[in-house]
Amino acid sequence: MQRALQLAALGAGRTSPNPLVGAVVIDASGALVGEGYHARAGEPHAEVGALAQAGERARGGTLVVTLEPCCHHGRTPPCSQAVIAAGIARVVVAMADPNPQVAGGGLAQLRAAGIDVICGVAEAEARALNRPFLHRIATGRPLGLLKWAMGIDGRTALSNGASQWISGAEARTWVHRLRAGCDAVIVGGGTVRGDDPLLTSRGQRQPEPLRVVLSRSLDLPASAQLWDQASAATLVVHGPEAPREARQQLAALGAAHPGLQSLELPQCRPKLLLEALAERGCNQVLWECGPELAAAALGEGCVQEVAAVIAPKLMGGLAARTPLGELGFTAMAQVPSWQTLAPEALGDDWLWRLRPAPDAADRP
Ligand SMILES: NC(=O)c1ccc[n+]([C@@H]2O[C@H](COP(=O)([O-])OP(=O)(O)OC[C@H]3O[C@@H](n4cnc5c(N)ncnc54)[C@H](OP(=O)(O)O)[C@@H]3O)[C@@H](O)[C@H]2O)c1
Repeated sequence: MQRALQLAALGAGRTSPNPLVGAVVIDASGALVGEGYHARAGEPHAEVGALAQAGERARGGTLVVTLEPCCHHGRTPPCSQAVIAAGIARVVVAMADPNPQVAGGGLAQLRAAGIDVICGVAEAEARALNRPFLHRIATGRPLGLLKWAMGIDGRTALSNGASQWISGAEARTWVHRLRAGCDAVIVGGGTVRGDDPLLTSRGQRQPEPLRVVLSRSLDLPASAQLWDQASAATLVVHGPEAPREARQQLAALGAAHPGLQSLELPQCRPKLLLEALAERGCNQVLWECGPELAAAALGEGCVQEVAAVIAPKLMGGLAARTPLGELGFTAMAQVPSWQTLAPEALGDDWLWRLRPAPDAADRP
């Protein structure tokens, strides 16, 4: 199962909306004869690759797989039938698939065919590996990561707005890797106007994550790196309040830049945005916005992990920006505690990652 988990992780960042899955086949004598993993949505599932590699040696052998084999016709045929047809005698599974189209149906088909099925081996590791997929299935929204960079005195920009660069080269390279593991990167209109960001993984993920701009006013610059880069797609999302003239300007921009699309939501709210992104197949998104939208995303339970890059810089200034806008607390007792993961050094900077305390769970 450890090998199957390693194989599953090779698909990271490419399988959404599907989960990461790895599988190995052990023949009747105990030799490892097949390996496979789900490399990309639409491509063969892990079990099929491992069984193909094993060939006739799978007959009477054991399939070890990190997630319950599927039993429905999706973009590929059901894996449960492929396992039965291969003559596998025993299946060891890390966890059942909570996807309502599977939900124990795959295990039931295997058992009905007389296969010995064991479920729950290394389940905690399998759950951790597929946290984004499991969150989306449970809530209907992708898992949200919120990232910012700041000086150790908590400032994210100088009083005059200057902010590039707070963190060093290693931290910025780490951010490119972080984006590569996400299906979409989200900013608000304020960040497009203030920073003109690129928001790509610098080629570490193909295709690049979808870049998303949430804006009520659609007061967006006519020229921005987000529109110009043909190598990555951008989605501008707005609500019904967006002025007509600004919509027309956005339509004209879209006509000139094929990678630029727009979407209207019933309300310009983080939660509705995430539901729309789940429908587009996103399992995990990165909030890289400024304080206003970051506070709104937190307030609506759209953040399940915070990554704060802290630079050894004293930026100062009473009017300087901080990472989060108003969260509405009036007493310290209302402020939830988060759990810190072990801090990591990124060159001269430090990465602090927070997750909701266990009693808060993944907020629905
Ligand atoms: N240090 C860092 O890591 C970091 C990261 C990102 C940004 N920043 C800084 O943040 C500054 C911009 O701050 P900001 O707060 O204006 O940026 P922001 O949070 O990215 O954008 C705020 C904008 O988001 C849009 N929005 C849409 N729906 C919203 C909702 N429900 N709630 C809140 N906002 C919503 C609005 O756009 P419209 O006004 O277009 O309607 C709003 O003005 C930048 O200059 C940048 O330097 C720093």
